[in-house]
Amino acid sequence: MSHTLSTEQSLIVAGAAIALFLVSHVFLRLRTRSTKAKSLKISEIYVYPIKSLRPTKLESAVATKYGFEHDRVFMLLQVLPDGYRNMAVSRYPDMTQFLTSIEHRKDGKAEVHVTFSAFGNEEKSRTLSVPLAPDTEKLDPFNVDMHGSPTAAFKMPHEYSTWFSECFGYEVVLVFLGDNKREVLWRDLVQTQNAALLTRVPLLGSAIPQTPQITFADCAPYLVVSSTSLDNVSSRLAPDEPMDVTKFRPNIVLSGADEAWEEDYWSKVRVGSIELIMKHNCVRCASVNVDYGTGKPGTGEAGQVLKKLQKDRRVDKGAKWSPVFGRYAFWRGANNAHVFKVGDEAIVTDRNKDRSIFSKLPR
Ligand SMILES: *[C@@H]1O[C@H](CO)[C@@H](O)[C@H](O)[C@H]1NC(C)=O
Repeated sequence: MSHTLSTEQSLIVAGAAIALFLVSHVFLRLRTRSTKAKSLKISEIYVYPIKSLRPTKLESAVATKYGFEHDRVFMLLQVLPDGYRNMAVSRYPDMTQFLTSIEHRKDGKAEVHVTFSAFGNEEKSRTLSVPLAPDTEKLDPFNVDMHGSPTAAFKMPHEYSTWFSECFGYEVVLVFLGDNKREVLWRDLVQTQNAALLTRVPLLGSAIPQTPQITFADCAPYLVVSSTSLDNVSSRLAPDEPMDVTKFRPNIVLSGADEAWEEDYWSKVRVGSIELIMKHNCVRCASVNVDYGTGKPGTGEAGQVLKKLQKDRRVDKGAKWSPVFGRYAFWRGANNAHVFKVGDEAIVTDRNKDRSIFSKLPR
């Protein structure tokens, strides 16, 4: 047997070496991509004191494990002959005709001011002030069932509901969450008692052993979006009509991502001492087509946003038909509260190798 390699053997060895180099190179690149911390900034903060009305834009907000203080603590339901129906923008686009702002009064109490300014009837706009922490002892209990996750809430005094009923032109009720919370419905986040006992493996790291709880928000305490991805959506629309980020109902807008849709892979984002765990994608419905100016389904390109996103943003295997925009985030850590400010640094500290998959508990 000869000790020198034949030409054929040399070629094989050289080929193998090149292949090994390429594989390790790609692997290293992927690794760096998935572990490199990336510094972003909080560019906008929104809360929605009354679910599905227009947001209150804030310079800073108290962040808690249930979401920002005052976020989705009220909601509206239509009164039907046989019960109540939860109201949301997709089915009730005229909810976008109600603007909100928060006032912290000198006596320490906070109020949300709601201004109803209907398209074509702006000169008849009217305003209602609602205390953000009404005394629930004086309120009647009222059960709300949202997406199969029920909660005991409270019916606000009738003058509030009457004001809204007059604006909408049909009967509605305004309800307050009080100190109650709802449980999230993500299959991978619901911690059953048995599972907790058997595995003792907490779901979101050691600090959150129970099923996360939320307000009247649909799915999670926080919805985080990237302004780079927003720009991508705007690039699909007429130049004089960029996408209004509030149609995506974010709590936190982060700026500074290099590329659109990077956030699909984010799994942890740190703001100060708080770590937000990005567990799921936010999958979208026709509410993104609503014209917030008129309170009607949008016309022209702005009314086609869902379709335009369906082309290439149906990237969540768990929700095949719905395009993804933004990430649902959960709170991690023992800290109870922390003020988030516009301009705060937000660091992407961890990324997933694959996109997360939408999974709701069947109920
Ligand atoms: C927007 O994102 C899509 C991928 O979903 C990409 O193909 C397209 O090039 C992006 N557009 C811009 C202007 O970056």
